[in-house]
Amino acid sequence: MTARTSDIEKAAEVLRAGGLAAFPTETVYGLGANAEDPAAVARTFQVKGRPPSHPLIVHIGGAEHLDDWVQDVPATARLLAERFWPGPLTLVLRRDRRVPLEATGGLETVAVRVPDHPVALALLSAFGGGVTAPSANRFGSVSPTTADHVRAELGDAVDFVLDGGPCEVGVESTIVDATGETLSVLRPGGVTREDLETALGRPLAVHSTSRVRVPGQHPSHYAPRARVILVEPENVVAEAQRAQELGRQVGVFLPPSFADAPVKAHAVVTVPGSMAAYARGLYGFLRELDQAGCDVIIASLPEEQGLGLAIANRLRRAAGPRPTD
Ligand code: TXA
Ligand code: MG
Repeated sequence: MTARTSDIEKAAEVLRAGGLAAFPTETVYGLGANAEDPAAVARTFQVKGRPPSHPLIVHIGGAEHLDDWVQDVPATARLLAERFWPGPLTLVLRRDRRVPLEATGGLETVAVRVPDHPVALALLSAFGGGVTAPSANRFGSVSPTTADHVRAELGDAVDFVLDGGPCEVGVESTIVDATGETLSVLRPGGVTREDLETALGRPLAVHSTSRVRVPGQHPSHYAPRARVILVEPENVVAEAQRAQELGRQVGVFLPPSFADAPVKAHAVVTVPGSMAAYARGLYGFLRELDQAGCDVIIASLPEEQGLGLAIANRLRRAAGPRPTD
């Protein structure tokens, strides 16, 4: 689905006037503001209820604009930008002075990406500058993958919602720290680790649970209202039954290999066998089980390869830290 030209113009006008415009990307919907307008950027944090120390991603219209926003781009980062942009890859690099500290949470680095969505690219071109955009949800909760999700969650707090249909990828961009000698993944996402390693010709470290600036200090993230409990795939049905017997409203993420198992629960989602379809549906499934009134969701982790790495990361974060963490 593509948005009407008049709507794209309207969203660009909102950004120019210092307002907030939600817009579609291939990953999730973003809450856009003019990256060079500190007051607009500050409002983003208020609307999300997000601590101002959590930096935002600056969205730009093409790799050719990269040097307007950052300095000292290593050859490896340029290679990744050329290979994966537009696409679900975010590069953390040294900030150009043009990027206000409000956008970077006070850091001297900035995260930048070129979204692979015709509506996002049309908006960036109509607007002409960089657009900061966190996922368009309240801090800590499930990211939106449709315009309706954004409206339901943010309502009048956002000045305009540009509807570009459901997001294709469904999980956020992969964030790569490209400031040092050795690149590392700060958040797994839509570009797989395997594809990055193939492009680079060497292995890549994943630091997704340790680095300070990827919101790890908080008990849970990407979380529905229902409590998410992770168990081994072969235990999902039994755990669901147990919780149901304890009087809980149980939601189940039924693993594909158990799709035919009889399961007693309040609401059941059968997880797609394809990781691309699972990623695309993940946040919608979590919202669906919340909407059905579930107070607990029993799920298992997929194999942590390809897009499965990002899905497992989001489910773990949704479940919050285990007592031993
Ligand atoms: O797919 C996406 O990346 C979506 C769409 C809208 O583009 N955006 C998104 O933004 O997920 P947000 O704000 O929900 O997540 C951005 C992540 C945060 O975890 C933040 O800590 C990290 O990027 N980040 C931003 N700037 C950083 C920096 N300078 N150093 C390290 N991490 C950074
Ligand atoms: Mg987010």
